[in-house]
Amino acid sequence: MNKVPINQARTIHTAFYTDKNLLDESKEKIFAPSWQLISNTHELEKDQTVIPLQLMNGFLNEPIVVSKYNNQAHCYSNICTHRGMIVVNEKQTGVRQLTCPYHGRCFRLDGSFKSMPEFANAENFPTVDDDLHPLKIEKWKMFYFTQLTDGIDFNDLIKDMDKRLSFIDFDKLIRRPEHDNRFMVDAHWALYVDNYLEGLHIPFVHKGLNDALAMEQYKSELYKLSNLQLGVGASGSEQFDMPKDHPDYGKGVHAYYYWLWPNMMFNFYTWGLSVNIINPISIDKTEVIFQTWLFDHVAEWSDKDLVVTEMEDETVVHSVQQGVRSRFYQSGRYSPTMEQGLYHFHNLIKEKMQYDG
Ligand code: FES
Ligand SMILES: [Fe+2]
Repeated sequence: MNKVPINQARTIHTAFYTDKNLLDESKEKIFAPSWQLISNTHELEKDQTVIPLQLMNGFLNEPIVVSKYNNQAHCYSNICTHRGMIVVNEKQTGVRQLTCPYHGRCFRLDGSFKSMPEFANAENFPTVDDDLHPLKIEKWKMFYFTQLTDGIDFNDLIKDMDKRLSFIDFDKLIRRPEHDNRFMVDAHWALYVDNYLEGLHIPFVHKGLNDALAMEQYKSELYKLSNLQLGVGASGSEQFDMPKDHPDYGKGVHAYYYWLWPNMMFNFYTWGLSVNIINPISIDKTEVIFQTWLFDHVAEWSDKDLVVTEMEDETVVHSVQQGVRSRFYQSGRYSPTMEQGLYHFHNLIKEKMQYDG
């Protein structure tokens, strides 16, 4: 597929936001091979822990288990290989094995088959097909990720962010679930991501955020499967302390806004990290989760600024959700300076969906 340059290109056709068949297709073409955040070292701290999850609950709905066994993290299907029962129903710590509640098939905590009653005479049994279906698991800093099907290299997703943030002391980031937020947005998931990926709306929509940022220095950097919006701070705003040899030294960075294909955002601030997970539910419904990590020196913190920004974004995203249904609007144009991230996202959608709209 030939990529039209940003100064000539049109935004993705509105059918992508309105056609239920395309949303269904995206399950296999976009989401199944994508890396999804499943857990962290805080949740999976103790050995012999198992955590059942519905991966992309409300959309892919894949029952999986994340576990720690012999001090190693594992991820596998939560579907019993005998007759398809869900094996693990709640988080447990200190367990020695998993026992399927239906007919008692037992698995080790890494998902491998252990034993089964009344199968002594079964031929060619057990085989690897009797293990709980294994899934890849990758760790970056304190986060664990998995993917359901092959196709995306984890390193391609993470390496640019990893290198740029080498100055951050991740050991000092503390998980603070009491500050998490969850929003249900009445819009297609990609409209929510679109909005995040362009800086052009900030002066118009976000008064508070606009005051904190030096918008004339706004910059996007595009990588293979991620991009960065560099939030340079206005004078008087909080800014990162950086080592002299870092490429951002002296720039006065207020925030790093990283987007990772297709639905994750890692926003780093001087106070900590807000991870945003954008989960499609239906063609016009999206769940947005804000997961909060604060640096250990931060005693008091309020989510007020993030929630104000979120509400401002939701207002415009809801309005655009109406707009993409109109017979008079199918696509628009990109600002070559302020909408590069958006252009990058749309090109990845077109490439993965083999969609030329
Ligand atoms: S379904 Fe699990 S033992 Fe039969
Ligand atoms: Fe915004």
